[in-house]
Amino acid sequence: MTMNIDNIRSQFPILDQQVHGHPLVYLDNAATTQKPLAVVDTLCDYYRTLNANIHRGTHHLAVEATERYEDVRRKVQAFIGARHSREIVFTRGTTESINLVASSFARRYFTGDDEVIVSGMEHHSDIVPWQLAGATLHPIPFSDEGVLDLEAYERLFSSRTRIVAVNHVSNTLGTVNPVADLVRIAHAHGVPILVDGAQAVSHLAVDVQALGCDFYCFSGHKMYAPMGVGVMYGRDEVLAELPPYQGGGEMIADVTFERTTYNELPFRFEAGTPSVGDVLGLGAAIDFMLSLGIGNIASSEADLLAYATARLTDEMPGLRIFGTAPHKAAVISFLVGDTHPYDVGTLLDQLGVAVRTGHHCTQPIMDRYGIPGTVRASFAVYNTKEEVDVFVEALKRIMPMLI
Ligand code: ALA
Repeated sequence: MTMNIDNIRSQFPILDQQVHGHPLVYLDNAATTQKPLAVVDTLCDYYRTLNANIHRGTHHLAVEATERYEDVRRKVQAFIGARHSREIVFTRGTTESINLVASSFARRYFTGDDEVIVSGMEHHSDIVPWQLAGATLHPIPFSDEGVLDLEAYERLFSSRTRIVAVNHVSNTLGTVNPVADLVRIAHAHGVPILVDGAQAVSHLAVDVQALGCDFYCFSGHKMYAPMGVGVMYGRDEVLAELPPYQGGGEMIADVTFERTTYNELPFRFEAGTPSVGDVLGLGAAIDFMLSLGIGNIASSEADLLAYATARLTDEMPGLRIFGTAPHKAAVISFLVGDTHPYDVGTLLDQLGVAVRTGHHCTQPIMDRYGIPGTVRASFAVYNTKEEVDVFVEALKRIMPMLI
């Protein structure tokens, strides 16, 4: 099926605007994607017609809101191929999902001399929670192209390795990591593995049972859903062993001043009032993606990536791309000559082109290459080759001002 790009773009009115007198070209999708009307309408409709607290009331709105919320849990279960809906925990986003796992896992399994294997290309949100939990981190090195060294990974395991935590797709390099291999090796050492899927879910089909991972974390807002909702998938047997993360309403079975017992999965991990409207928006975003087909989204973005990479490489002297792995998602991090990424980003913005600049919350990657930061263009399903052309021409136009 070829996708009708005009139809897709018409569902994103935010794209149809001028910035500094130029049509907006939004290439900061790895930071957050825009939201289709179906998602915006779902959110508005929820507050217009349905708002009620869930799992608590017997009245119509509370029952209806609860049913819709639990419907989305089942939708997420199917979307990532989980075995049970109780394996799906709603959080505020990937960061909270990873903090939840790190905190609960450490309380259950850390003994005071604990090591966690991470990839050398992790986002800070898959580094700092493990440091806060008291672990010593052992990063998996990667090649200049941005490919993880699996032999070096094997050598990092010790009797003190408690868990592996790796991203599925690097937000900075775009590398799609070989998660199934990483899982197989971790499990061969008897070690569980968490996957940060924040940058994967919008670009490729995810099947957590096929991957075999123990935890899979992602955010709604990077896959066309509202900000403020995310998912922590935990394999049933693994999740069942973990203590709660936060205490509060709904996560309990019974409370006295002496002792509290906890609710069943997944409610044990959902203390307090969740962001119900955002969860319903996540359901609408999944419907949007499925209506296009994940395979179609992936192939359209792969075309854009190949086209943009070729134009930048062929036409921009002195441009270096960081992350040239054979298996990449639609992210291009680059520098041109000695120009500072911030200056490039600021001038591109003056021409209507939105990119991200800086270390992208991955300072260890910047240290690996000995650079302060990069300019990053990242694509989504609504981007076009014409927009890539505008971006490349804008880069050519600003370069004489910087060199
Ligand atoms: N982690 C997000 C990014 O890469 C915010 O831009």
